Amino acid sequence: MLVTVVDHPVVAAKLSALRDQATTTPEFRRLVDDLVTLLAYEATRSVSVEPVAITTPITTTTGVRLTTPPPLVVPVLRAGVGMLDGLIRLLPAAEVGFAGLARDEETAQPSWYADRLPEDAAGRDVFVLDPMLATGGTLVAVVEALLARGAEAVTCVCLLAAPEGVARVSETFPGDNVSLVVAAIDERLDERSYIVPGLGDAGDRLFGSAPA
Ligand code: URA
Repeated sequence: MLVTVVDHPVVAAKLSALRDQATTTPEFRRLVDDLVTLLAYEATRSVSVEPVAITTPITTTTGVRLTTPPPLVVPVLRAGVGMLDGLIRLLPAAEVGFAGLARDEETAQPSWYADRLPEDAAGRDVFVLDPMLATGGTLVAVVEALLARGAEAVTCVCLLAAPEGVARVSETFPGDNVSLVVAAIDERLDERSYIVPGLGDAGDRLFGSAPA
């Protein structure tokens, strides 16, 4: 897996505000939106384009446009939904799939409760949105599902990651067809698999504590 930690003072300042427990839900949503747009700039660096002839007020020239089929964006329910607007602002033609997984308390494995991914993901630029890469189990399952449906490459966009999760996803996908773009890699996971220092429960902070 190719890992890009976006090292930028504006990203760091917004991430610090996001971590602060005094940040309210409206502010938190706004910060997530801003951060995703900044991360998306890096995440879309290799998006597929093709030449297009254009006429400016002065002359004709050649520009580029995104290829078809359009990119596929997959927020992981529920917290990934808070990242959707920030990404599709840059890719307005993108189609959106959804991945819902819950942790099976007996096996500790993620189990699918909502698979709204296209049957055929071939030939698309695919972006998976999940704010917190903690143990990596969910992200591995979603990326596996997309590769099994023909995606040639998958870019995961996360706000925060734990080293344990980055290691797990990297070991599962050692090639350069899977990428991670993240604002910071934190210290570790705690005994409840929360990221430390982290920002708490991203879903709760985005949406309140209604059930997933
Ligand atoms: N999910 C969260 O929302 N927070 C964490 O710290 C880890 C996983």
